[in-house]
Amino acid sequence: MGKVDNEDYIPALRFHWLTSLYDPILRWSMRESTFKPKLIEQLGLDASRRVLDLGCGTGTLTLLLKQACPEAEVIGLDIDPKVLRAARNKAEKKGMNIPFHQGMSDELPYPDRSFDRVVASLMFHHLTYENKRRTLHEVFRILKPQGELHIADWGKAQNGLMRLAFLSIQFLDGFKTTADHVKGILPQLIKDSGFVDVEETDRFMTLYGTLSLYRANKPANGQ
Ligand SMILES: C[S@@+](CC[C@H](N)C(=O)[O-])C[C@H]1O[C@@H](n2cnc3c(N)ncnc32)[C@H](O)[C@@H]1O
Repeated sequence: MGKVDNEDYIPALRFHWLTSLYDPILRWSMRESTFKPKLIEQLGLDASRRVLDLGCGTGTLTLLLKQACPEAEVIGLDIDPKVLRAARNKAEKKGMNIPFHQGMSDELPYPDRSFDRVVASLMFHHLTYENKRRTLHEVFRILKPQGELHIADWGKAQNGLMRLAFLSIQFLDGFKTTADHVKGILPQLIKDSGFVDVEETDRFMTLYGTLSLYRANKPANGQ
């Protein structure tokens, strides 16, 4: 991986000096204990699965995935060395053996057709439109045929209150990367990347707007 500058990505809470607040904020104000278990259930893990947690941040979901199915091979990837340190510390404290890799979502350091599941929680709204497309192509490439992509991210607001609430995320993370979520175009982008059976499986009202869960399949004949 080439040298990565701070301008190449948006950190967990936009500014590095806020990163230490990320876990408490998510725990207390984002319904984390509701949507992450739902996402894990949706993945349908079993011992034979190889799973990538893309944009794993401080590793909360990665650890929960491993706890849900200790025999599965679970890997976390993020571009930010600071959150990766936090994730590795958490895993070490719990005595869990989870590899955490540094990498960019649009240039994944994995061979073609090497994962059964890719999950991305709250990562896509950090990416520009072009980067979302490149990332989805990369995810398609590393998934095995019939592999699955699972996403939790900001969806189209289901009412005016949720649209208003989402302005808080737009002010924090920027309007450039979040505009796609206001328009609700993520499912179409996923389809455009070759995935089939793309669906929004659930939707939550949160303090910061509508959070949607999506799933999509790589077709059996997908290369
Ligand atoms: C809001 S945090 C979500 C963390 C975690 N998935 C969760 O659900 O709590 C978004 C994460 O995506 C990472 N990220 C942003 N752009 C990225 C990119 N292009 N490639 C890899 N990681 C990226 C950030 O470093 C950050 O840790």
